Amino acid sequence: MKAVHCTAYGSPEVLKLVEIPKPLPQSHELLVRIHATAVNSGDVRIRKADPWAVRLFFGFSKPRKSVLGGVFSGEVVEVGSEVSKFKVGDSIFGSTGMGFGAYAEFKAIPETATLTLKPESLNHVEAATIPFGAMTALDFIRKAKIQPGQKVLIYGASGAVGSAAVQLAKSFGAEVTAVCSGANALLMQRIGADKVINYLKEDLSIANEKYDVVYETVNKLSFSDCTKHLKKGGTLILGASGFGQMLRAGLAKMAGRKVLTGLIKESVESMNFIKNQIDDGKFQPVLDQVFTLDQIAEAHKYVDLGHKKGNVGILVAP
Ligand SMILES: NC(=O)c1ccc[n+]([C@@H]2O[C@H](COP(=O)([O-])OP(=O)(O)OC[C@H]3O[C@@H](n4cnc5c(N)ncnc54)[C@H](OP(=O)(O)O)[C@@H]3O)[C@@H](O)[C@H]2O)c1
Repeated sequence: MKAVHCTAYGSPEVLKLVEIPKPLPQSHELLVRIHATAVNSGDVRIRKADPWAVRLFFGFSKPRKSVLGGVFSGEVVEVGSEVSKFKVGDSIFGSTGMGFGAYAEFKAIPETATLTLKPESLNHVEAATIPFGAMTALDFIRKAKIQPGQKVLIYGASGAVGSAAVQLAKSFGAEVTAVCSGANALLMQRIGADKVINYLKEDLSIANEKYDVVYETVNKLSFSDCTKHLKKGGTLILGASGFGQMLRAGLAKMAGRKVLTGLIKESVESMNFIKNQIDDGKFQPVLDQVFTLDQIAEAHKYVDLGHKKGNVGILVAP
């Protein structure tokens, strides 16, 4: 089968299309024909070993799991002898977790992995772009316990996580203010933002508005600018915090402030929740460019620029 190997840490050119043996499913596994995957900020972080600590977890000189790709949408083409939840012919979508391997035509994956049936209203490319941003935003938004009527500020609202956060916060009943560049204002309105702030034109630090929840998704706003916009007792979500922000967050927590940081938890329950949101018309994919598997280096170059609108899809097989 065709797959993309990450041959070293570095620029997108380290990604090479190769032929490797098709996997054989174990007794508890599904063999999935992958129709689509996506290039997420997480894939780019692994490819670049950014932060450096990536090497401690994923391999010192190159990723131990040479086929990257953390999300997929595809069809079950074979099932192991003990599989009971899915059958051949099911269309499913989800996350491959730390196993990666979605930049390939086939993937063997446990039936208990973070996956569920694909919403019928979405094609495979749209579906593949959902799990990364939506599960990240859902985890933080649930932990923030957003209540109907609360005012929520989403900073970096036009990214994969931000565009999911806008939609989920809306469906939890919040009044949502989205911060992005002016070019994405209409997109924000289309996915339900009540207000949009163009960070290129308006200086957020001099705005007087206060929010119950500030969700900083892209690690571009300083800690003090984030807290400046929080109501007393409000919750700050630092979804992409680096070491410095984590330190500030730790100190703020010791002082009794509500600050959420750290890695999110993926789950089948989250996937089912998001699928239901899509089926109910409360959540839609936000798709920017679509590339093919042999164009994956170009897709990574585009994501590296840091200004994608929502998600970048990869069509693996029509
Ligand atoms: N905590 C966790 O477990 C977890 C899980 C997943 C992801 N993450 C992290 O979350 C972060 C966001 O991920 P993502 O996939 O959403 O990223 P992304 O899609 O690559 O973000 C792109 C967006 O960032 C916006 N942006 C760029 N510079 C900005 C600025 N100065 N101010 C405001 N917005 C700006 C761009 O909007 P404009 O073009 O309008 O500027 C663009 O739409 C990543 O750092 C990722 O590592 C954390």
